[in-house]
Amino acid sequence: MSTTMLINLSYTVAAVLFIFGLKYLGSPATARRGNAISALGMLLAVVVTLLDQAIIDYRWILLGVLIGTAVGAFAARLVAMTAMPEMVALFNGFGGIASLMVGWVALAQPRLSSFILLTIFLSILIGGVTFTGSLVAWGKLSEKLPGRPILFHGQRLVNGALLLANFACGAMFVLHPEQHLWLYLAVALSSILGVMTVIPIGGADMPVIISLLNSYSGLAACAAGFAINNNILIVAGSLVGASGIILTNIMCKAMNRTLGNVLFSGFGAVDEAGGKIEGEVTALSAEDAYYVLEAAQSVVVIPGYGMAVAQAQHVVKELQQILEKNGCEVIYAIHPVAGRMPGHMNVLLAEADVPYDLLLEMDDINPRMEAFDVAIVIGANDVVNPAARETPGSPIYGMPIINADYARTVFVLKRSMASGFAGLDNPLFYRKNARMIFGDAKETLGRLVREFSN
Ligand code: TAP
Repeated sequence: MSTTMLINLSYTVAAVLFIFGLKYLGSPATARRGNAISALGMLLAVVVTLLDQAIIDYRWILLGVLIGTAVGAFAARLVAMTAMPEMVALFNGFGGIASLMVGWVALAQPRLSSFILLTIFLSILIGGVTFTGSLVAWGKLSEKLPGRPILFHGQRLVNGALLLANFACGAMFVLHPEQHLWLYLAVALSSILGVMTVIPIGGADMPVIISLLNSYSGLAACAAGFAINNNILIVAGSLVGASGIILTNIMCKAMNRTLGNVLFSGFGAVDEAGGKIEGEVTALSAEDAYYVLEAAQSVVVIPGYGMAVAQAQHVVKELQQILEKNGCEVIYAIHPVAGRMPGHMNVLLAEADVPYDLLLEMDDINPRMEAFDVAIVIGANDVVNPAARETPGSPIYGMPIINADYARTVFVLKRSMASGFAGLDNPLFYRKNARMIFGDAKETLGRLVREFSN
């Protein structure tokens, strides 16, 4: 077998490992295995690539590996679970800049066809946008930059002009590759474009953008793969590109919004109150709620962003166990966009060792909702807002929700009557079967747990 065949065979094995890894990453129960399998694929790809290329000096590579490992290990230990979206944003950004650099370095190759020049330009364009766009996303999520959308007159026109100018530079670069100025201009313009495309997007829409930038980082790697004629980079880049866009699509669907709406509407810039609701809310103390829970046969827990803010996942698990000991069935209903990142609730509940089989998806729980004695809504708001089902004019009308209001009694644990991410009042709070238990979710749940042990 020739060396080229052996290398391509190893790349195919690595690609298969990536695909299986992605498949396993689709469920919390197999995600760790998926991660390990993908990492194995990447190790194989890196080792084979190092053997394939005529490496002049391994010392630089070793230095890069050491620095990368140290930074990665340090960051993974240090980063809090709640800061994971920011961390992913940074990872995407670094992926983008790496592809930009690989594309740039590809210029040093002896023979440069027009196709290779085009892919060099594309890796620089997409890599540059991904890098600076991800840095802005990181800044917004970590609140180092203002989270609100930054909008100005003629913004789309400016962005369109930037993109056109970028393409013009690309065309000039392909036609005159000896004039490097066009490439430098493309680097500068794509970096500016990255910033300009992300600033009009509100902080709370960042998860969607991060997923989109993740897709871009894959496409940039794919272009870089073509630029240096490396098959595994092309395959891995395409996989990241495709999975990122699928995830982006899933999130948009779960919010009943189009990608165009997320990118251009400046959602969150204005207060889209959508009219105040007339009526009264009934507040209840944790101590009184205990009597209802004590008698309940079935309870559905509906967590949302507030559970993450309160870090209430461990005490939720405690309450679940107490209720189960009391002969009550407890199920968790998970909305796909509850929280602020894909799988946010799953990650938090997994951290508290809540068994996966107790976590039901929206479509599985909704038909059963009327059979539950109590629905405990923990810091969730938009994902249980019946206006999405009933009020055609509402900005969230049509967004699939968990029908918490169909349960016999609904306990809503939140600190105030404040709205959620969408900035809307929630008619659920005014329903006859709803009881507001005001306060920090962790404290309220702690009080409920204490009532049971008294
Ligand atoms: P939200 O609608 O944002 O509501 C969260 C609620 O938690 C707030 O009303 C807040 O009320 C309460 N809260 C905050 N801190 C709390 C604490 N310490 N204790 C108790 N309650 C607390 O959350 P959701 O229902 O999870 O919906 C998610 C929203 O984010 C959706 O609109 C979704 O479209 C959007 N979004 C999600 C994603 C992903 S991928 N998950 C991506 C983009 C956008 P108080 O201030 O009164 O306590």
